[in-house]
Amino acid sequence: MSQPDRLIVFDTTLRDGEQSPGASMTKDEKVRIGKALEKLRVDVIEAGFPIASPGDFEAVSAVAKAVKNSTICGLARALDKDIDRAGEALKAANSARIHTFIATSPIHMQHKLRMSPEQVVEQAVHAVKRARRYTDDVEFSAEDAGRSEIDFLCRIFEAVIEAGATTLNVPDTVGYAMPNQFGGLIHTLRERIANADKAVFSVHCHNDLGLAVANSLSAVSNGARQVECTINGLGERAGNASLEEIVMAVRTRPDVFSCQTNLDSMQIVNCSKLVSNITGFPVQPNKAIVGANAFAHESGIHQDGVLKSRETYEIMRAEDVGWSQNRMVLGKHSGRNAFRNRLENLGISFESEEALNAAFFRFKDLADKKHEIFDEDLQALVTDTKTESFNERVKLISLKVCSETGETPHATVVISLDGEEEPGAAIGGGPVDAAFKAIESIVNSGTELQLYSVSNITSGTDAQGEVTVRLEKGGRIANGQGADTDIVIASAKAYINAVNKILEPAAKAHPQTGDV
Ligand code: KIV
Ligand code: ZN
Repeated sequence: MSQPDRLIVFDTTLRDGEQSPGASMTKDEKVRIGKALEKLRVDVIEAGFPIASPGDFEAVSAVAKAVKNSTICGLARALDKDIDRAGEALKAANSARIHTFIATSPIHMQHKLRMSPEQVVEQAVHAVKRARRYTDDVEFSAEDAGRSEIDFLCRIFEAVIEAGATTLNVPDTVGYAMPNQFGGLIHTLRERIANADKAVFSVHCHNDLGLAVANSLSAVSNGARQVECTINGLGERAGNASLEEIVMAVRTRPDVFSCQTNLDSMQIVNCSKLVSNITGFPVQPNKAIVGANAFAHESGIHQDGVLKSRETYEIMRAEDVGWSQNRMVLGKHSGRNAFRNRLENLGISFESEEALNAAFFRFKDLADKKHEIFDEDLQALVTDTKTESFNERVKLISLKVCSETGETPHATVVISLDGEEEPGAAIGGGPVDAAFKAIESIVNSGTELQLYSVSNITSGTDAQGEVTVRLEKGGRIANGQGADTDIVIASAKAYINAVNKILEPAAKAHPQTGDV
């Protein structure tokens, strides 16, 4: 019997995922996610779009420095300046890939690029050759391939393979494709391109019609051997194909797919929680694989069936994707070494002893309030600590809120704004409203609250509340997170975290629509 092929998993959480409004991540957060993806054994990590901003460049360089067992990829339009910047950012990588792209659909070539098909082929070939100056691992994407003409796709792909591209990516940029049609496209391309055997065919599907995973899997059935995907399906608009769903589909149905991934599926839940925690995008409870209810059997009939024999209703085991690791890990008496070890297991490390000490101090404080500390508590605590140690203009010094039946809630707060401590006070419809207004009385951010959500990190009334706040100002969106056993304090932290992001200098450019 022949060996199944390897399906390459290309994760773009740090690039396409970050393009999701409000999902921007700091360099440090990107490194944390990069390390978790490395532990998951993702083959290729697309770490960003280096030309977008100095911050993006530094984040790609930092991921390239920190992650040694996955290939690190940088995105570049088919322009010399983008490619050179990507090449530069990837210098420290053990294994580097440059991913260059240009649009190929009539609508994009005519209206966005204002270029003829001949010019597009010429620019694509030039870009691939330039990228090959930096690395042998060059990926070319035909943006909006899902709406491109097949003859033109064959022509441009053949030309870029000739120029040195080793991966050909077929994106359904606008999420328009249907599974049969998209699978058929991959089949036709592989059949018609003369030098098709010299490159790996890849797909990159968006989820506008909820078909990103179905389209990707149909492509895999037709010979695609790389899938581009994101943790929790994060990404532009309705998102990208979800990594966890693709990986578990291929693993659960070896009778259907003649390929397999190299991933350690036990790391999936950990990665999902980390990405949700850092971006503030909650995972819906009924989300496949990583939703809180994905393996919960509520109905009596199902429970009875599962107790008698698991296979009656379960097609995968919760343990195989990392759910069973959700157990009490540390307590009040745990020491610094146990704390450090547990964090290392979660893929979290600190740049200095001071940073570790600050987190340990917080842990002790939390352990005083909360009997059992779970992995999820540690993730939230580290996010909080690292967020606060970041160069922030606004810091919460103290908060007092009075809430009493028959009385109007009232908050008093002390905020450090650009190093100066200032007091503020306000009343509100509820304690959280009063706290936000008291903070605004000092920072005057001029933002509008778009979303406020609270969830408990673990169960029990002593659990930490995790709050997400989304603020908008002049079209810019920022999500803030905060965690605390006191949800009013968690809310204030989340609000301040979002305000700090909004106050940061202008946002970076968008690779597909923005100008750099
Ligand atoms: O959706 C898309 O087409 C992209 C490309 C840059 C690959 O993200
Ligand atoms: Zn995309």
